[in-house]
Amino acid sequence: MPLLDAATKVRLRAYAPYSRFKVGASLRTPSGAVFVGCNVENVAYPEGTCAEAGAIAAMIAGGETRIAELCVIADSPEPVTPCGGCRQKIAEFADQDVKVTMTTLDGKSKTMTVAQLLPGLFTAAHMDRA
Ligand code: THU
Repeated sequence: MPLLDAATKVRLRAYAPYSRFKVGASLRTPSGAVFVGCNVENVAYPEGTCAEAGAIAAMIAGGETRIAELCVIADSPEPVTPCGGCRQKIAEFADQDVKVTMTTLDGKSKTMTVAQLLPGLFTAAHMDRA
């Protein structure tokens, strides 16, 4: 799976000296372009920026705005799931039926849709009376 390969590769570039938990993420857009991201931590903000957010930032910088598929990988006992903030960020750029595949280095994998990952999504429509 090319997306998994891309996430596996970029994970090695993660800058995670505080958690020592390296995460890689990759996404494909409808055009077929692949963007990648890894987590980047900071001494003042040790939680840093998530790999998924990095891949989304690369997509936006690359001039695209829609996610067709996303993959995330870490060396965790169970497939790593995007944090709450990242779920909202993914949902901003992905349809509800888009698949998010979460994997471990030793080959465990779980796939969920964006809707399954974030039920009750806050959308722009909620602000219609503003
Ligand atoms: N992290 C990610 O990059 N993605 C996730 O889905 C979960 C957590 C990162 C953030 C931080 O650098 C480290 O993992 C520990 O929370």
